[in-house]
Amino acid sequence: MDLHNYKPKGTILQRHLLSLADYSRNDIYEILHLAKLLKLWQKKGKKHELLKGKTLAMIFAKSSTRTRISFEQGIRQLGGQSLFLSSADIQLGRGETIGDTAKVLSRYGIDGVMIRTFKQSDVEELARAGDFPVINGLTDDFHPCQALADIMTVYEVFGALADVKLTFIGDGNNVAHSLMLAGAKTGMEVVCCCPKGHEPSPQVVETARKFGHITVTDNLDEAAADARVLYTDVFFSMGQADDREKREALAPYQVNAAVLKKAAKDAIFLHCLPAHRGEEVTADVIDGPQSRIFDEAENRLHAQKAVMSLLMRQ
Ligand code: CP
Ligand code: NVA
Repeated sequence: MDLHNYKPKGTILQRHLLSLADYSRNDIYEILHLAKLLKLWQKKGKKHELLKGKTLAMIFAKSSTRTRISFEQGIRQLGGQSLFLSSADIQLGRGETIGDTAKVLSRYGIDGVMIRTFKQSDVEELARAGDFPVINGLTDDFHPCQALADIMTVYEVFGALADVKLTFIGDGNNVAHSLMLAGAKTGMEVVCCCPKGHEPSPQVVETARKFGHITVTDNLDEAAADARVLYTDVFFSMGQADDREKREALAPYQVNAAVLKKAAKDAIFLHCLPAHRGEEVTADVIDGPQSRIFDEAENRLHAQKAVMSLLMRQ
């Protein structure tokens, strides 16, 4: 069954969004359905204050453009408000525990917390200790909100997710992990093409394989062949030091015109952004006619509004 035939229920059986590993295909379809509606309502100027008066706290231990702005605007458009909490400014940055922070936030009528940080275990601890839904806005291991916006973009372009071949090329990182989970659960064929030593986590691959079709390879020609979506991300994620060995290993995995040519004729190019032109992707590809990077960035807003509405209305 693809999204076309799915009958939405307006609810999901989830308290948090920590990783898409916990989400069923139906949970993901609920989000995509609502995101599509919210996008339509916003474009038509129709009011959609599903979270009137609710407050989202946003904890950032890493930089952000898209995540911060799309969550801030998203909660505002839903009738709520946000609190931007840089971990450099709150006591978390001076060693206060996640547990104490969660318990304090719980006393102030916070309706949801979005957190961007390093360790996935900190996000899980926040969810355990607080009395609010927690949304993972990126950790070293996962970036679920990004993957939801990505598959929403793929769906908009191709009208389906089932059997669409998406090839992620580059470092087997947080973005690759969440894409494998989102893709596997929605029937896509996901290929993760990484140089040796920079593959995705074997545990995440094993989890994703329980739900769908995942290939991990270092063969770029095979990976790119007939792909409908080519996706890449930076060589070095936030918190990682630049190192020569990794740079040299990843250089042959640059997405350039020759790689794009191997993909299907109607293939699109995606990148979570920020991008480094000339490193993981060439300017002619990322700025070319097959690139959908700004639709993808826009869809962060709609997908996250759907996530917040489903989690924070409960
Ligand atoms: N793609 C993404 O999460 O972007 P930011 O780091 O700017 O939030
Ligand atoms: N893999 C990148 C994604 C940024 C949105 C990072 O973690 O820095």
